[in-house]
Amino acid sequence: MNIERVGVVGGGQMGAGIAEVCATAGMDVVIREINEEAAALGETRLRRSLERAVTKGKMSEADRDAALGRVRFTTDLEAMADRQLVIEAVVEHEPLKLEIFQALDNIVTSAEAIFASNTSSLPITRLATCTKRPDHVIGMHFFNPVPVMRLMELITTVVTDPEVAANAEKFATETLSKTVVKAKDRAGFVVNLLLVPYMTEAMRMYEAGHATAEDIDNGMKLGANHPMGPLELADFIGLDTMKLVADVLFEEYKLPHYAPPPLLVRMVEAGMLGRKTGKGFYQYPT
Ligand code: CAA
Repeated sequence: MNIERVGVVGGGQMGAGIAEVCATAGMDVVIREINEEAAALGETRLRRSLERAVTKGKMSEADRDAALGRVRFTTDLEAMADRQLVIEAVVEHEPLKLEIFQALDNIVTSAEAIFASNTSSLPITRLATCTKRPDHVIGMHFFNPVPVMRLMELITTVVTDPEVAANAEKFATETLSKTVVKAKDRAGFVVNLLLVPYMTEAMRMYEAGHATAEDIDNGMKLGANHPMGPLELADFIGLDTMKLVADVLFEEYKLPHYAPPPLLVRMVEAGMLGRKTGKGFYQYPT
């Protein structure tokens, strides 16, 4: 199957980024958001990122306009009916994802269509088996910011059709120019299973008064050449997402070092979600 029509469910940071790379690669893209306000926010995200690509000299104005012309926002999930690939990128809330996959199963007409989830940690198998086409459901996990990060994790389950996996890999590498890392359907896949405990360990270190946030971050930036320190990166990802992923890792492996540290839990309860709310381990202009 030659994929030309892509659907993205969710126009947040990840969904808008995924839609952007698909549109830039020449795909016809439909993004579904929950209401008009969220759709407008998603469109602003997409426009800003494309603008940044132009400012950085990565894209011409003509290519930006062409990419924008290939994207349509909708609040109607039925608009996914003719899609050949649908990528779900909503919040890490399993009941919501299950509801979306079940609905897509009834809406998307082609039996060949691929359903993908951008989940950071939830089992793809559970999303797959809630549909009548579990062999066509796969994990396509992108990294933030999607237009800049070169990796995509490809997650297959014990029931994934090998042809579906090959198609999804071809799409990621040839169409989107991403590098693919393949992982089994285990919570955290490859990157988050390593990255999330590293970041929560930094939070424990900070909470224990072992070092300041700035020193922890500078330590890893200057001593290990990371582009962002662990606390800065947690703020960038979103502390709510961090907590959700840590919860899933702990639930899967039952190892204490995967559990979210109390400070992270309290910050999320207090609405300190990092960059998106202007307050996390650091303060940001809102
Ligand atoms: N489109 C295309 N290219 C863009 C762009 C855009 N919208 N915005 C920036 N770029 C390019 C720039 O041109 C630049 O490229 P060159 O090096 O070739 O010039 C590069 O991206 C870096 O951009 P900047 O110099 O403007 O920005 P920066 O140096 O401040 O870097 C950053 C910003 C890329 C976000 C960097 O800080 C970084 O890599 N941080 C770590 C990000 C990370 O680890 N993400 C993964 C999070 S985990 C995750 O997402 C998974 C999960 O499930 C939780």
